[in-house]
Amino acid sequence: MEVFEAVQARRSIRAYEPTPVPKEKLERILEAARLAPSAENIQPWHFIVVTDHEKRVKLAKAPFAGFLKEAPVVIVGCGDQKASPKWFMVDVAIAMQNMVLTATGEGLGTCWVGSFDENQVRELLKIPENYRVVALLALGYPRKKIDIQGKLLHAIRRRKKLEKIVSFEEFGRPFRATET
Ligand SMILES: Cc1cc2nc3c(=O)[nH]c(=O)nc-3n(C[C@H](O)[C@H](O)[C@H](O)COP(=O)(O)O)c2cc1C
Repeated sequence: MEVFEAVQARRSIRAYEPTPVPKEKLERILEAARLAPSAENIQPWHFIVVTDHEKRVKLAKAPFAGFLKEAPVVIVGCGDQKASPKWFMVDVAIAMQNMVLTATGEGLGTCWVGSFDENQVRELLKIPENYRVVALLALGYPRKKIDIQGKLLHAIRRRKKLEKIVSFEEFGRPFRATET
């Protein structure tokens, strides 16, 4: 799958098959995180692969995160705030988006989850003090049952129009591709 195809195809998946994620695919997804850029190449990230059902049930207790108990894998993205105080969140987010796109290319579904109690996650997964929890990522095969609502939302792509989010040369000046 081409990169742009993966960008277009990706959508947040909130219903998963119980089928485990094959080891080779999981390794490739983690490798995509490892290869991400980071400020000063500090690589202030650490990713915890959670498959244990009890742990996923606990993570799923947060609002808007119920599907984490269903996703066979949850990847918890942590950032070392001491190693890179200014950029750890950006660096971890870039690495996680690398994983999202690689997972899409592998036929897997993902969903970013920002809804979590950091202290609970820290305690549950024994995360050291200097690491902050940046985001959780659900990973698995999308449930086969027809997800009409999800597909419809994806088809509509509720996104701001390009002219609303892009300027040319200065903020607010309309961008027209023909001028470049
Ligand atoms: C930082 C971040 C946090 C998010 N947190 C949650 C969440 O806690 N629960 C959830 O169901 N979706 C969450 N999402 C997914 C967004 O709701 C979703 O990306 C957005 O509605 C656009 O839909 P799409 O991803 O299908 O294109 C999060 C996305 C991001 C980037």
